[in-house]
Amino acid sequence: ARKIIIDTDPGQDDAAAIMLALASPEEIDVLGITAVAGNVPLALTERNARIICELSGRPDMKVFAGCDRPMHRPLVTAEHVHGKTGLDGPELDEPTMALQEMHAVDFLIETLRNEPEKTVTLCALGPLTNVATAFEKAPDIVGRVQEIVMMGGGYFEGGNITPSAEFNIYVDPEAAKAVFAAGIPIVMMPLDVTHQLLCLKERVDRIDAIGRPAAQAMAAMLRFYERFDVEKYGSDGGPLHDPSVTAYLLKPELFTGRECNVEIETGSEFTLGETVIDWWHVTDRKKNALVIGKADAAGFFDLLTERLARL
Ligand code: BDR
Ligand code: CA
Repeated sequence: ARKIIIDTDPGQDDAAAIMLALASPEEIDVLGITAVAGNVPLALTERNARIICELSGRPDMKVFAGCDRPMHRPLVTAEHVHGKTGLDGPELDEPTMALQEMHAVDFLIETLRNEPEKTVTLCALGPLTNVATAFEKAPDIVGRVQEIVMMGGGYFEGGNITPSAEFNIYVDPEAAKAVFAAGIPIVMMPLDVTHQLLCLKERVDRIDAIGRPAAQAMAAMLRFYERFDVEKYGSDGGPLHDPSVTAYLLKPELFTGRECNVEIETGSEFTLGETVIDWWHVTDRKKNALVIGKADAAGFFDLLTERLARL
């Protein structure tokens, strides 16, 4: 199984991404989950990560709390999307499993140093603060990362927190800039692809119909999360962002993209946090990411539904 660390700010869609990974132990070995401040403050994201592990029948999973704010800016959160707790929708019990004592950044550093070189993939589902802080603190680990698969950015679709920026990149643009400059293989799931993964009513109903507690909680989360997007996007279901990352690990054939140069805007008043993607290769700047442009949405929801039924 492929070894991964999930860096996350749950968030209903983060929850779906984590559940998809935990439901797939044959293909994916989750070494730990590192929480970061993003959709909601850190105290809630680490709590939510533990709730999701328990819901998935994995109270043994190691969950670490990381950075409580971006590297050089105040935190921006997204309760308007995810609700006050970040996991609004279902009734959820407070978690009983313990939070690990180690800081998430130290766990990232220690794991990358201890595991054989280039055998650990980082799945980044939130602002890149923990990852960039680990790289800054321990530059020796950068070359040891196998790959980063991340949700963030957007280009043709524009932004979802400002007209030009996607939330994860906007919250900590300096962290994103450092990660894209690190020279590690990156697979990027921008809004351009996640906006193809719509939580249509029949898709959510299928997950609900599994009838088991984890799947039903997921369905309730998706229904809450979608209420915002239906008004906004005018479709009968809003986009599901983060599980594109773990679905890519399970079935890369569901996705197509191209190698591009991606630069992060950190200086502009209007386009702060924009991912400038050289999709048409109009510069000779170095290609630093595989940018995904298309997804097989039906195949993606089949995979998600089939795996959630295992929990
Ligand atoms: C991203 O921002 C968060 O609100 C979601 O969890 C996702 O990671 C989408 O822009
Ligand atoms: Ca997220």
